[in-house]
Amino acid sequence: MTRPLTVTTPIYYVNDRPHLGTAYSTVVADVMARYARLRGREVSFVTGTDEHGQKIERKARELGLEPGAFADEISPLFREAWRALDISFDDFVRTTEPRHEARALDLWKRCLDRGDIYLGAYEGWYCVADETFYTEKELVDGRSPTGRPVERVREPSYFFRLSRYREALLDHYATHPSFVAPEGRFNEVKRFVEEGLEDLSISRTSFSWGIPVPDDPEHVLYVWFDALASYLAASRWAPDAEVVHVVGKDILRFHAIFWPAFLLSAGIPLPTTVLAHGWLTVNGKKLSKSDGAGVDPVAAARAVGADVLRFYLVREIALGKDGDFSAEGVLARQGELANGVGNLLQRFVKTIVPRATGGIVPARGPLEPADEALARAAEAAAREAASAYERALPHRAVDTIWGLVTAANRYVDETTPWVLAKDPSRRERLDTVLATSLEALRFLSVLLSPVLPERCRELAAQLGLAGSLDRTGEDVWPTAFGAIAPGTRIAPGAPLFPRIEPDSASSILATLGATTR
Ligand code: MSP
Repeated sequence: MTRPLTVTTPIYYVNDRPHLGTAYSTVVADVMARYARLRGREVSFVTGTDEHGQKIERKARELGLEPGAFADEISPLFREAWRALDISFDDFVRTTEPRHEARALDLWKRCLDRGDIYLGAYEGWYCVADETFYTEKELVDGRSPTGRPVERVREPSYFFRLSRYREALLDHYATHPSFVAPEGRFNEVKRFVEEGLEDLSISRTSFSWGIPVPDDPEHVLYVWFDALASYLAASRWAPDAEVVHVVGKDILRFHAIFWPAFLLSAGIPLPTTVLAHGWLTVNGKKLSKSDGAGVDPVAAARAVGADVLRFYLVREIALGKDGDFSAEGVLARQGELANGVGNLLQRFVKTIVPRATGGIVPARGPLEPADEALARAAEAAAREAASAYERALPHRAVDTIWGLVTAANRYVDETTPWVLAKDPSRRERLDTVLATSLEALRFLSVLLSPVLPERCRELAAQLGLAGSLDRTGEDVWPTAFGAIAPGTRIAPGAPLFPRIEPDSASSILATLGATTR
């Protein structure tokens, strides 16, 4: 029995609506969750919305709303966006829910009981946009390191004894080499901790939109202390489960330093890995709604399909690096899918197989080197893609799988089944080529399904394997080539990735592009 997987996305601030940039963490986490389920692992996939804090309170007031009413309006947009992108989350946490508040307060109480929380006064810089305290030396030209305005704050505050955890954190890092990935980011974290840690202000008094501190309701919990506790909603936790937090590089410090320190204090096991990814950028800048840029995932999914967007995000951003967004790029990826996988399926299920066998998958006869080569390529792709998915390198998994797509297309070009079909004496050879090609497509339906869940279900259905990707709790990852059963009846359907006519291309570009300027 393999270990359960808990995977989380950051919970999203409700001051911004969801956009394609924020969707990246969620798509990566979903690919991991879906891959693990295909391997028969039990998965707990948690996402949600981060609704407290000064940033949300101010935004709500600007709009003349109560923060709670404002959050009630925005939070469902995230659910809707993730549904539109076929995100298979198991739980959606809102930090305004009583069950979450209880968890955050339990975390507080545990740290308090450990003697790690004390009352003091905070004097320094606070950036509301980042919801982060900064020291004087961290400021760049009087702004936060992210270039946003900071405010001088002086207020009574509860502190967490972060300084106490320097050694324990460094020990944990040393003994858990995959605690932060990629490695370069891990080194940044280690350097930061080595330089020494100051105690962390974990309550605020200058506004009230938050979870009140027990026995001192003038204070509300610092929004990050509050938000990180959302992860404890996971139905399985370490060490029983592998716990992976998928986060953007901008919020690594909270996850790799503060969060494990809170957990060490509370006596709760630490997550397994914090996976820090890069950004989707426009003209080199992080794509964001508040800068007037950002694509609505629901409109985009309606325009090109959820799977094309997922494929675009996974293929465009090498996990850990940034990737530049372009609407044309999305269409190019749609073309890649149409030409690579869509056409291949279409050729077989629409024409060759129905004509040659009446729509039945034939048995393979004696194998020739070309058949053997494709079989080995498929098996190698399955092994290598599995390893890439497991190492949280989904872009590499897709690259590897694309090698198989290319090999399968080349195989068909070289074995020319449409020529074989004209010569009754080559019947056995034709059957072998058909069965081999259909089996390659079956491999692709599984290997690509973490990224293209809906299109791969359709691909499998057209191969006559409807339901083969349903959650069974069994490991359905393909290993040995040749498992497609002779006698299976294919079920031709519409093209998987329909060709986009020039007219609709310009309207799609408008949907994807108009909002990015
Ligand atoms: N609320 C905090 C997270 C709390 S987790 C306990 C937060 N929210 S956020 O809405 O600002 O960002 C959520 C995630 O979206 C972060 O991982 C951030 O890196 C990611 N992204 C926001 N814009 C992005 C891009 N343009 N590209 C890729 N990811 C981006 O931080």
